[in-house]
Amino acid sequence: MAKQTVLVVDNGAQYAQLIARRVREAGVYSEIVSHKMSASEVIAREPAAIILSGGPASVHVEGAPQLDPAIVEAGIPVLGICYGFQQMATALGGSVERIGEREYGSTEISATGGIVGEGEQTVWMSHGDRVARAPEGFTVTASSASSPIAAFEDRARRLYGVQWHPEVRHTPGGQEMLRRFLVEGAGLEPTWTAGNIIDDQISRIRDQIGDSPVICGLSGGVDSAVAAALVQRAVGDQLTCVFVDHGLLRAGEREQVERDFVEATGVKLVTCDDAQIFLDALAGISEPEAKRKTIGREFIRSFERAARQIRTDREAGFLVQGTLYPDVVESGGGEGAANIKSHHNVGGLPDDLAFELCEPLRELFKDEVRAVGRELGLPEAIVSRQPFPGPGLAIRIIGEVTAERLDVLRRADLIVREELTAAGLDEEIWQCPVVLLADVRSVGVQGDGRTYGHPIVLRPVTSEDAMTADWARVPADVLARISSKITNSVEEVNRVVLDVTSKPPGTIEWE
Ligand code: XMP
Repeated sequence: MAKQTVLVVDNGAQYAQLIARRVREAGVYSEIVSHKMSASEVIAREPAAIILSGGPASVHVEGAPQLDPAIVEAGIPVLGICYGFQQMATALGGSVERIGEREYGSTEISATGGIVGEGEQTVWMSHGDRVARAPEGFTVTASSASSPIAAFEDRARRLYGVQWHPEVRHTPGGQEMLRRFLVEGAGLEPTWTAGNIIDDQISRIRDQIGDSPVICGLSGGVDSAVAAALVQRAVGDQLTCVFVDHGLLRAGEREQVERDFVEATGVKLVTCDDAQIFLDALAGISEPEAKRKTIGREFIRSFERAARQIRTDREAGFLVQGTLYPDVVESGGGEGAANIKSHHNVGGLPDDLAFELCEPLRELFKDEVRAVGRELGLPEAIVSRQPFPGPGLAIRIIGEVTAERLDVLRRADLIVREELTAAGLDEEIWQCPVVLLADVRSVGVQGDGRTYGHPIVLRPVTSEDAMTADWARVPADVLARISSKITNSVEEVNRVVLDVTSKPPGTIEWE
């Protein structure tokens, strides 16, 4: 039986991915589709429920995403959120009007039952239009000062809408409301758990790979470790893991893979010492996308060489990659988002790729990957590791990548990691890229001498999913300690600066 899937229709705001995650947290599988998908295509996918996301537009603006009434008339349970709520109102014969002043931020609502619960609640609002008239057959279930119709539902037809954003943490009861929609409103069973994901993936991996040999590139990160552990669980000894030391790693990462991961899983591991090959390939390249493409290409070449070395009775035919759902969506491979950066494990593969890809995490969000890793018994040090980009330190050196620059960055990065851990900030900080502005120099003074060194940028961020992020408010004394340690012990660096940009408009990495 096909698994129950909730389709989240992305109306173009930043919220669709967060909604999809929250649905999964409630134990139901979800996928994101573009609002451009036709109603017949949406219905043909037989979703167990549909959620219409918020959007930046007003339903009255020309070209705003429209809702085909067929979607709400197909007998499928639907929840409209914010803009999606207004789309529902419009499509079903209600009406939407402008409010004089935008209702934005934490807002008090009064709820009177149904999936929104009862009583006074604090919710997160962000809208300039409101529903003026609910469609026939709907009961109004919540109101706020600016929005007398802040939620409605037609229980018989299983159609629901809310003006606020239940998916954001600023709506404390939001997750419970989503759960009520899924379980009580739509009648779904919360069966999407780490254990079930593993069972499901193991049978899919066996189907795909058969008795063929398979190799998996380990990067030291959570994703490739969990992907490898899953494949090993599925096909055991057919798997050989390859760890490419491309020389773009942080201090200590090689040991973590060679020692800790092998200890935990007993997996077969081959390490390739290819640092010089990558350095040669990267020589003269400063442009970020060119770096990613080069590294992506060399990665695959390294795997291919390793596979030829491994050669048992026949060559490995499959390559496991730890591609996640957000990578797929952000690389434009999903249905909706624009291509912001080509993540090397999705884009940039050479045309003459000699492997078929096996991507067992392609449908998963990071927190699900961690849950799967824990369920598979991987050590916490690997499972809770902060994200680190596949192209490694290469995209944290602004300018050409050289062995000397890598060495400088590695030393600064280690200091930052040690100090953040010592300050107990690992949980709070999503990740902290440390960036070397290798083409920039500034004048400084040290001892009696003038220096002309490079700046190091600290980029600590908080985030839910890396799609959006805020700069982390690291305590000033921790920053001071990091700064003086770096400038004292990494002589090429004479300035430490803090990046105080959110995402958007900045991305997390500098390249
Ligand atoms: P950005 O910089 O796009 O980063 O805000 C979002 C998340 O993705 C990671 N990242 C990458 N990961 N290959 C990867 O495997 C890449 O080319 C790449 N670029 C960015 C970044 O570290 C952050 O977690």
